[in-house]
Amino acid sequence: MNQPISISPDGVKYTLPKEEDYKKEMARIEKLVAHARKKRQEIIVVMGVGFVGSVMAAIIADTTDKSGKSGKFVIGMQRPSKRSYWKIHKLNDGISPVKAEDPEVNPMIRRCVLEKKTLVATFVYDVLKLADVVVVDIQLDYAKNELGNVRNGHVEMTALEESFDIIAHRIPAHCLVLIETTVAPGTTEQVALPAMRKVFRQRGIKSDPLIAHSYERVMPGRDYVASIRDFWRVCSRINEKAKHRVVKFLNEVLNTKKFPLTVLDRPIESETAKVVENSYRATILAFLDEWSLFAERNGVDIIKVIKAIKVRPTHSNMIFPGPGIGGYCLPKDGGLGVWANRHILGFEDDTFRMTPLAIDINDTRSLHAAQLVRDALRNMSVPIASAEVLILGASYREDVGDTRYSGSEILIRRLTEMGAEISVHDPYVDQWLEFENQEEHSTNNKSIFFRNQKKLRDLRVQKDLIKSLKNIDALVLAVRHEAYLNMDPSKVIKAAGHPIAIIDCFGILDDDRIRRYLERGCEVKGLGRGHIKRLKDEVIKKKT
Ligand SMILES: NC(=O)c1ccc[n+]([C@@H]2O[C@H](COP(=O)([O-])OP(=O)(O)OC[C@H]3O[C@@H](n4cnc5c(N)ncnc54)[C@H](O)[C@@H]3O)[C@@H](O)[C@H]2O)c1
Repeated sequence: MNQPISISPDGVKYTLPKEEDYKKEMARIEKLVAHARKKRQEIIVVMGVGFVGSVMAAIIADTTDKSGKSGKFVIGMQRPSKRSYWKIHKLNDGISPVKAEDPEVNPMIRRCVLEKKTLVATFVYDVLKLADVVVVDIQLDYAKNELGNVRNGHVEMTALEESFDIIAHRIPAHCLVLIETTVAPGTTEQVALPAMRKVFRQRGIKSDPLIAHSYERVMPGRDYVASIRDFWRVCSRINEKAKHRVVKFLNEVLNTKKFPLTVLDRPIESETAKVVENSYRATILAFLDEWSLFAERNGVDIIKVIKAIKVRPTHSNMIFPGPGIGGYCLPKDGGLGVWANRHILGFEDDTFRMTPLAIDINDTRSLHAAQLVRDALRNMSVPIASAEVLILGASYREDVGDTRYSGSEILIRRLTEMGAEISVHDPYVDQWLEFENQEEHSTNNKSIFFRNQKKLRDLRVQKDLIKSLKNIDALVLAVRHEAYLNMDPSKVIKAAGHPIAIIDCFGILDDDRIRRYLERGCEVKGLGRGHIKRLKDEVIKKKT
């Protein structure tokens, strides 16, 4: 039988390890660890080397003690799944498995793996036996069974519970387990601690596992590294010993001198802090959805309105939502709280009203963007069915390659349902797994909410912007990537070959550009940009 393979975004195929590979790999790591121990380095296992874990692992591996020596040897432990096994190979080659604008990411990973030799990646769980500290950076998904109804969903606890079990069976008693995964409030004390304690007792260990919780505030993008290392952290722990260990560890690896730690009393407090932090952001984004619609209908440019308001310091964090709120965190984190309230903490009443509503609004916002595409094309007498629509931007936010829960995905699915032919361009995304693997994704398969989705498996991300414009009927500016901010209307129309519909979902076009598109026969629409009608009338008046 063929051994399953894992394919990296640059197309390299890696055969998943076989039974006999595990022993050899463990021996390789043991040798490296023995060497590190001789140098008095602490052994840190980072479990899960995804968007958070790979960069966190490099930050830990890059730290030096007071004498300038590397004090930590880091093992990035990644399960050998088809989706993620390639990350181990990339890391061991000194290449970052995540793509980002931050110029610090690649050199840091390269330096730690190839020069300092303080970072290595592996697939064997048994390396946990060697750990002084385990940092848990695995994902915790929230499955939604309905589009726009977060209440009809659940937290995928089984994988997390299995991970706690795997850790408890292997770690030494003195090992600190630092949970960085965003969990449902109550998880550390009511799920992780009893489960791990039980295994410790079976192993004859009398002490409790040293569990702590500290959440990541990482912002993939230009300040990727700084958003982990040079940023404020909140932490908590299950007992005093764990408190001492987690504070010491975070002080050693993060810039806590400049960005002091906040130590909370109990894990449920730091777990709640994370969920509230992201629910707050999701809510202020959702809040502008209705005003964006109001603006469109009443001749108002919401972008200028927001700019006018933001000069007031008390309102400076107002943000325009774009075509849907994606990323791994904001669409799910509030849901973790709503779910925990009933399923971990046992409350039957409906405590939450705003948090789920905000998520539901955000989850469906891009459906309105699809209507604008349809209407702009209709105004140019092009029916949406079989129109060629180019989406600029696949990722969930500007200048990153992360496509998880991106607004563009829902937009594409709805347009495809309406019969449009879709192409997509993104400088940061090589593979759009949400489409390519749509049959495989259980928790994140949005294709089930729409009809006519099969052909999207073959959707490939284009890299040549000018080429991708050729012969399109509509252009959707969906993400604020650097490359899309200053596109020249004449060049766009020339590349397309004729006037097209332009749909600005992110306040990218200034009035000058909008006018230039209109003057050249294009139809322009934008989320929250009701003033375009006025600009259009002016252009028509000038012509007549
Ligand atoms: N991405 C962000 O911007 C961000 C920001 C703040 C917090 N977080 C939180 O950090 C956590 C990790 O997020 P991410 O974006 O890095 O996810 P990710 O999916 O990119 O990475 C998780 C990795 O863990 C691996 N994994 C899963 N189970 C494992 C196991 N049992 N053993 C070893 N490896 C395992 C997966 O294969 C994957 O490579 C989540 O809880 C997320 O909510 C993410």
